[in-house]
Amino acid sequence: MEKLISNRCNIVESVPESYIFPPERRPGKQVVPPCNTIPVIDFQGLHPMELQHQIMKASQDYGFFQLINHGVSLELMKDTLIVGKEVFELPEKDKEKFYSKGPKQNCGFKASVDYTNEKVHYWRDNFHHPCHPVEDHIHHWPSNPPRYREVFGRYSIEVRKLGLQILDLICEGLGLESGYFREGLSQNQLMIINHYPACPDPSLVLGLPKHGDPFLLTLLNQGEVSGLQVLKDQQWLSVEPLPNAFVVNINHMLQIISNGKLKSADHRVVASSVERTTVVSFIQPSIDSCIEPAKSLVNESSNPPLYKSFTFSDFMTTHTTALREGKDELEHYMIIPSQAS
Ligand code: OGA
Ligand code: NI
Repeated sequence: MEKLISNRCNIVESVPESYIFPPERRPGKQVVPPCNTIPVIDFQGLHPMELQHQIMKASQDYGFFQLINHGVSLELMKDTLIVGKEVFELPEKDKEKFYSKGPKQNCGFKASVDYTNEKVHYWRDNFHHPCHPVEDHIHHWPSNPPRYREVFGRYSIEVRKLGLQILDLICEGLGLESGYFREGLSQNQLMIINHYPACPDPSLVLGLPKHGDPFLLTLLNQGEVSGLQVLKDQQWLSVEPLPNAFVVNINHMLQIISNGKLKSADHRVVASSVERTTVVSFIQPSIDSCIEPAKSLVNESSNPPLYKSFTFSDFMTTHTTALREGKDELEHYMIIPSQAS
C-alpha cells in the first residue's frame, strides 16, 4: 500500500528516482498547445441527424470529442469528482480494506499502471470497480466516504444511459442493424477514479503512458485541471477542460468493429503542479464477446476486413503485455494484406 503515490505525496518534495522517465520519454518543459479543434458537440441542442453526423465525423477524424448539454447535471458531475477525491484522502484503516482485491469484488486501489513489472512508475493512483448493473456491485463499494454509494450509484446509471445513446447514434451512423451494441458488446461498465497528486516537477513524470482505451467507449469527467493530451498527426495536443463536459473517446474494440472507420486515438496524461482527480467510465464488452469487423461492413473485394476475429478475453491478455512493452496494442490482430489472399 505504500506504493500509492498519494500516500507519499505530502512528504514528496522532489520526484523519487523510480518515477523519473528517461529524457526521450519525458513530457519535458515545452508547452503543449491546446487542441482547439477537437469537436465540441451539443448533445441536446441539435437535430438527431445533425447530432449523429457530428459524432460520426469527430469519431472518424479524431476519435475524440467533448460533449456538452448532455443531460447529466452539473451537480452530479461535481459531486463525483468531490467524492472521488475523498476516497484518496480516507484514513489508512479505511483504505486498507481495498488494497487486497478479493477475486469477486474486484474493487480496489491500484498504484501506477503495472507497478510490479514496469521499469518506471507513473504519477497516478486509481480506485476502480465494476458498476453495471449497479445493484450487483454497490455493496462491494466503500461505505466511507458516506456519500460514495449514493453518488456513484446515480452517476453510473446516468453515464451508462448517455453512453448507450451515443453508441446507438454510432450504430446508425455506421449503418449497422439497430441494437448492435446493446447487448454483449456493452454488457459491462468499469469506473476508474484516477488521482494524480500535485507533482514537484511535472516535466519529469507521466500520469499515464501513451495508450488507446481497450474497450468500446470512454466517457471522462475531467474536472477543471488539464492533463489529458491526445496525439494528432504526431503532435501532442492538450484536451482543455470545458465546464460540465464529458470527453468522449472511441476505444479499440469500436475501431475494430467499424473496420477502421472510427479511430481509437492515442492519448496520455501529464502531471501538474496541482492535484488532479478524474472519473472515467468505460463501456465494456463481456469477456467472452467475439470481436471482429462487423460482417455487414466488410466484403472481400472492395472492403476486406482489416482485423482478425478474437474473443475479448484474448485481447485483454495481449493488451497488458503490449502496453508494458510499448508496442502497438492492435498489431497482433491486424490482417496484413499480403497474408489475406
Ligand atoms: C484513462 C485515461 C485520462 C485522464 O484512464 O484511460 O486516459 O485524464 N484517463 O485521467
Ligand atoms: Ni485512456
